[in-house]
Amino acid sequence: MHATPTLRLRLLVLVIAVLGVLTAFYTREVNQGVWNGGKAAWWDFHLIDLGLTGWGKAPRQPIAFSHALHAGQYGLDCLYCHSAARVSPQAGVPSLETCIGCHKSATDKPELLKVQDYWQRQEPIPWLRVHTLPLFTRFSHKRHVRVGVACDSCHGQVVQMERVEQVSSLKMGWCVTCHEAQQADKDCLVCHY
Ligand code: HEC
Ligand code: HEC
Ligand code: HEC
Ligand code: HEC
Ligand code: HEC
Repeated sequence: MHATPTLRLRLLVLVIAVLGVLTAFYTREVNQGVWNGGKAAWWDFHLIDLGLTGWGKAPRQPIAFSHALHAGQYGLDCLYCHSAARVSPQAGVPSLETCIGCHKSATDKPELLKVQDYWQRQEPIPWLRVHTLPLFTRFSHKRHVRVGVACDSCHGQVVQMERVEQVSSLKMGWCVTCHEAQQADKDCLVCHY
């Protein structure tokens, strides 16, 4: 009978270790194709990130806009709505005009009525930002898009997302390992002001 508490403890430790290892290497479908699984290093994983980087962030938006529907099911190209990504540092979010182009006809769908309300009031939809780098960093979509780095390698399978989620840590080590692998510049001043 004396052994029971230690046995229980050992079992508990074992279960925690197994779960830990599973979580470390677990990738959801939307993580597919992401550079290094979104990790800055192999030991770096979501579980111990503790929300410090915004990894896994997926805020509820003012309109339930679905990428899975628009970009997945209807196959709209990313650049149809994020055309700025090709020519500027920012990818940008489409204007209400882009939405209304397809959604001006009468509807009884509540989410689309909301879109039309914003249009009537000529008020932009207050989308919540998902990805943000600290101010002291420099990033450019244009440079990456032009050399053919796919949106997926940084943002994951957005075509499967009902709600956009940040699937990369966006940590420095994550950026740098890819720059190293693809022989891109690693100079501090490339990414820092
Ligand atoms: C019909 C227009 C449309 C298409 C097509 C589209 N998007 Fe979006 N995208 C939006 C809108 C609107 C938002 C802001 C609301 C949201 O986050 O869902 C957004 C947000 C995003 C965000 C989050 C931005 C942030 O705040 O950090 C990413 C990343 C993104 N889109 C990537 C993609 C990718 C990759 C594709 C192609 C697979 C794509 N989008 C196709 C309209 C579109
Ligand atoms: C190229 C055309 C096109 C563009 C651009 C477009 N949509 Fe859509 N959207 C569709 C289609 C098609 C559907 C599915 C049919 C429907 O519900 O009307 C849809 C469905 C939706 C729905 C789901 C409605 C429901 O409850 O079933 C919402 C919400 C929506 N769109 C919002 C937006 C927003 C916001 C934008 C602008 C960022 C946008 N759409 C841009 C074509 C488009
Ligand atoms: C090399 C990695 C990388 C690639 C490739 C990439 N993004 Fe991004 N994206 C980011 C980072 C990092 C941010 C946050 C930038 C910031 O805070 O300044 C971001 C932010 C965004 C945003 C938020 C709004 C904005 O203007 O910053 C959207 C939308 C977006 N990306 C869409 C796309 C689309 C669409 C593609 C493909 C055409 C793409 N991204 C390719 C890394 C990438
Ligand atoms: C999936 C691979 C990949 C990831 C991840 C990535 N980059 Fe890059 N990046 C590249 C490649 C390839 C180039 C080279 C583009 C060229 O040759 O013009 C580049 C170029 C750049 C440039 C322009 C370099 C110059 O010479 O002016 C900046 C700035 C940059 N990246 C910042 C970042 C930051 C910041 C991150 C992380 C948030 C990041 N990158 C993540 C692949 C990546
Ligand atoms: C490819 C882009 C890239 C390069 C090259 C790069 N950095 Fe960074 N760095 C980042 C990004 C993105 C962050 C913000 C995310 C983070 O804190 O990891 C960052 C964060 C930092 C921080 C803050 C760390 C923290 O924990 O808050 C320091 C200090 C720093 N970098 C120094 C450097 C130095 C020194 C070099 C040159 C040896 C360098 N960086 C090269 C992208 C880069």
